[in-house]
Amino acid sequence: MRTAIVTGTSGNLGQAVVKKFLAEDVAVEGTGSLQIDSPHYHSVAVNLIDEIAAGEWIQSVISRHATIDVAVLTVGGFAMDDIAHTNSSAIAKQYQLNFETAYNVARPVFDQMLKQGSGRIFLVGSKAGLDMRNSKGMVAYGLSKSLLFRLSELMNDEAAGTEVKTVVIVPSTIDTPQNRAAMPGADFSKWQTPEFIADIIYNNYITAATAESTIIL
Ligand SMILES: NC(=O)c1ccc[n+]([C@@H]2O[C@H](COP(=O)([O-])OP(=O)(O)OC[C@H]3O[C@@H](n4cnc5c(N)ncnc54)[C@H](OP(=O)(O)O)[C@@H]3O)[C@@H](O)[C@H]2O)c1
Repeated sequence: MRTAIVTGTSGNLGQAVVKKFLAEDVAVEGTGSLQIDSPHYHSVAVNLIDEIAAGEWIQSVISRHATIDVAVLTVGGFAMDDIAHTNSSAIAKQYQLNFETAYNVARPVFDQMLKQGSGRIFLVGSKAGLDMRNSKGMVAYGLSKSLLFRLSELMNDEAAGTEVKTVVIVPSTIDTPQNRAAMPGADFSKWQTPEFIADIIYNNYITAATAESTIIL
């Protein structure tokens, strides 16, 4: 059975990704509080800002599964403010939440996948991180997400010639209860459901030969 890692299983996107992969007969090892009664699913609470805890979790997954075939790193968060109101500690906070939580998992997973010779890592970027012109009023968020694109470039460069690929998924607004509450006047039909994004991730994972490094939704 193939094995997936999913961080943020209790989150909107994380939950949809877990359900999609389980439905496709992929075992899921997650971080987060989502509980599902399946012998192929296991999720534990890990503070992924803690590099040692993140590394120990990955090692425990490797000890229980022969390979890590795919990793979907959904943990992240949002903050608004313009430059005048964004001090360096606000940037550090978003950096920890959006970059370190991904890096602390991606790094040991990447190492394992290089040993295997194959694997796919999905990072979750954002339009703000893709182009700083989209980051006005969300400075710390945009800066922190931008690093995920640079990280994927580095990883794909280091893994050149192997079947280890890193892909950045770039959602538009996700249709979540939190976004509906924050933007009650918006046209929700224009938003992307977590299930739609989970399908895109799974379909990209199984089309090994045509991996794009950035998927803009
Ligand atoms: N929502 C949008 O419109 C949108 C748009 C573009 C991109 N994105 C990105 O898409 C991703 C998923 O979004 P979402 O709406 O599904 O997010 P979400 O519902 O807020 O879920 C975030 C998850 O991250 C976990 N988390 C937070 N800090 C953590 C830490 N230090 N260690 C471990 N887990 C931690 C949370 O766990 P707890 O609940 O236990 O804290 C939660 O499960 C995020 O990276 C987000 O930036 C979202």
